[in-house]
Amino acid sequence: MSSTFENTISVLAKAGIPSPRLEARILIAEASRQEAGNIGTDSVLDKDQQEKLEEMLSLRLQNMPLDKIIGSKDFYKYSFNVTCDVLSPRPDTEVLVEEALRLSSAFQSPSFLDLGTGSGCILLSLLGERKDARGVGVDCSEKALAVAASNAEKIGVKEQVRFCRASWFNEDFGSLFAKPFDLIVSNPPYIPTGDIPGLEENVRKYDPFGALDGGEDGLDHYRQLAKVIPPLLKETGYVLLEIGIRQAEDVCKVFEKAGLKTEKVLRDLSGIERCIILKK
Ligand SMILES: C[S@@+](CC[C@H](N)C(=O)[O-])C[C@H]1O[C@@H](n2cnc3c(N)ncnc32)[C@H](O)[C@@H]1O
Repeated sequence: MSSTFENTISVLAKAGIPSPRLEARILIAEASRQEAGNIGTDSVLDKDQQEKLEEMLSLRLQNMPLDKIIGSKDFYKYSFNVTCDVLSPRPDTEVLVEEALRLSSAFQSPSFLDLGTGSGCILLSLLGERKDARGVGVDCSEKALAVAASNAEKIGVKEQVRFCRASWFNEDFGSLFAKPFDLIVSNPPYIPTGDIPGLEENVRKYDPFGALDGGEDGLDHYRQLAKVIPPLLKETGYVLLEIGIRQAEDVCKVFEKAGLKTEKVLRDLSGIERCIILKK
């Protein structure tokens, strides 16, 4: 008789899921509340655990990403809670975190503003590394902010952060902040609306539309952020923005029109221009 582990691998493999062995180990570990490293052919599940595993397998076969099924995703040095109310943190975004940390080393007790914080992965990673820093995370989604707040607690930076529900399209947006910031970071929605139906199902169906949709040309949020960011940035401060594929030139132009200068453009691990750094 084949084991739960072997059966799970076989179900995942037949459905064309990449890395079925690894995913089987993670799903069985989650169902049985064990370490993934302890899962093997001798792993035995009780009835409740078996039911939980079957539920998770059924979601995985509907293309729900593994992190959304188990409710957590590793990003930078931390593990973040994730739900379908937040964008799953992407490894590409770590470039922005690393650069923000490098730039923040010139500031004592830096202040960070994260526009579109989602799970909080950018801001909370920065605060986790800079215990002397303070930050504000903004999002228009109340449900996303609840996930970010749970992550602040999980990472141990609750005392350093404040979350604020607001849209940068609101007229009084700037008045929500008492002082300008040293570093402003943002990974806004940037997918052109017409490209969304062509995205992979695991993104299109399980990441929130409001975290993806950048309007007709993908640049709607950058145009608005270029209006609201300059008064919120200190003279000595930096802006770090994640951008979509082939958007660097257009986004730099939008911000240059608003009076900010492009310092540099950084590429992600695949060599794609992914992050722009701006200054006054
Ligand atoms: C691409 S996700 C980025 C999430 C997270 N910062 C990350 O890097 O994984 C963009 C986030 O911006 C938020 N958002 C979209 N439009 C907004 C608006 N007008 N005002 C405030 N937040 C907005 C979405 O709810 C979403 O959480």
